[in-house]
Amino acid sequence: MIKKFLDLGSQPLANSYILKKNLKLKEKKFKLEVGFNDKNFLVSILKTVSKEKMFNKDYPYKSSESNTMKQSFKNLAKKIKKRFNPKFIIEVGSNDGAFIKNFDKKKVVGVEPCYNLAQITKKLGYKTYSEYWGLNLSKKITKIQKADLIYSANTLSHIENFNEIFRAVDFALSKKGILILEDPSLLKCLKNTAYDQFYCEHIYVFSTLALKNILNKFNFEIFDIENVNTHGGSNRYFIKKRDNRFYKISANVKKEISKEIRFGLKKFSTYKNFEKKVLNSKKKLLQIIKKLKNKKLKIIGYGATAKSCTVLNYCGIGKQDIDYFLDTTSYKINKFLPGSKILIKKYKKLSLNNVDVVYLGAWNFKDEIFKKEKKFINEGGKFITHIPLPKII
Ligand code: TYD
Repeated sequence: MIKKFLDLGSQPLANSYILKKNLKLKEKKFKLEVGFNDKNFLVSILKTVSKEKMFNKDYPYKSSESNTMKQSFKNLAKKIKKRFNPKFIIEVGSNDGAFIKNFDKKKVVGVEPCYNLAQITKKLGYKTYSEYWGLNLSKKITKIQKADLIYSANTLSHIENFNEIFRAVDFALSKKGILILEDPSLLKCLKNTAYDQFYCEHIYVFSTLALKNILNKFNFEIFDIENVNTHGGSNRYFIKKRDNRFYKISANVKKEISKEIRFGLKKFSTYKNFEKKVLNSKKKLLQIIKKLKNKKLKIIGYGATAKSCTVLNYCGIGKQDIDYFLDTTSYKINKFLPGSKILIKKYKKLSLNNVDVVYLGAWNFKDEIFKKEKKFINEGGKFITHIPLPKII
């Protein structure tokens, strides 16, 4: 049974940035509620939005916008070559190529349903299918050769139908082939009170416990896990077909599962407790903003993330609180954040001449951003973050 534990209110589609000429149009909204399945321990949003409404030719998110992500993919590619030496790789959700660019063009293909992004890697000479991943596509790609590695980061959490995904993976992989999945970790999400990991595209936030149960149905099993820092704390799962005896199951798997059970990820009470923490987080963030506004200080946002969309709309933060957001992504610049309708301006280095306090929308890139804005920080510039608790830093 799926039990609801969190209500994040009525929300617009997180990556649907608004053009100035459309500001008066009514936005599509949906009820963002989160639930826990007490049978397989899966945490998911209760109402989903059709994939065509979210992942289309206007999709604004680009992995290569951040050095942290580029570096993470580069390091992973190096590790993959050393540990698995794959001859043919498929990346599902190849975005703008931050991962596949680290491989020989003959050895890798990308799958990216967002046409604008697929064009980027196509132009670079990488074979890219601008289609949704599924059995038909998997048959088409592996007509001549089966894949010995399928990689997918921050994509499985976006896809509702596991049946289609894993049947396609099963078909595409060679006998010894492996699947590497990387997605935000539920354990980290709860520990950080990162309720903004929930938005229309993040249908699921996985625990190892839940993923193991899902994989089990499709005769796959996890043989290794790495905790990685990307997207506020993610897990990288190394998965094989159950009858593939080539890889031993690492002790890391048991360790991770024990950690999750100890934290209470099997118990509904843990999620109800998270709800309380989220309510408190909202209260504290609003108090901080009110205090700063009472002092007539100017607040701007940094990183117009999909995550910020959840925070702004759930907390009711708007133009009266945050003057504008800065972002480096060309598709977002001069558009407005969904719901709150706060303007997104082209990034330029922070300066105390222009701003007093900065709300960190891209909190998952805190280290990278703080490095970049060293001068602003050294001169006394302040940030607001809501992770793990709202505070000024
Ligand atoms: P991200 O947090 O990865 O994703 P999501 O939208 O899934 O919540 O998005 C990071 C955003 O922050 C992206 O729009 C690029 C922007 N950004 C900057 O503007 N400057 C930076 O230095 C970094 C690292 C990111």
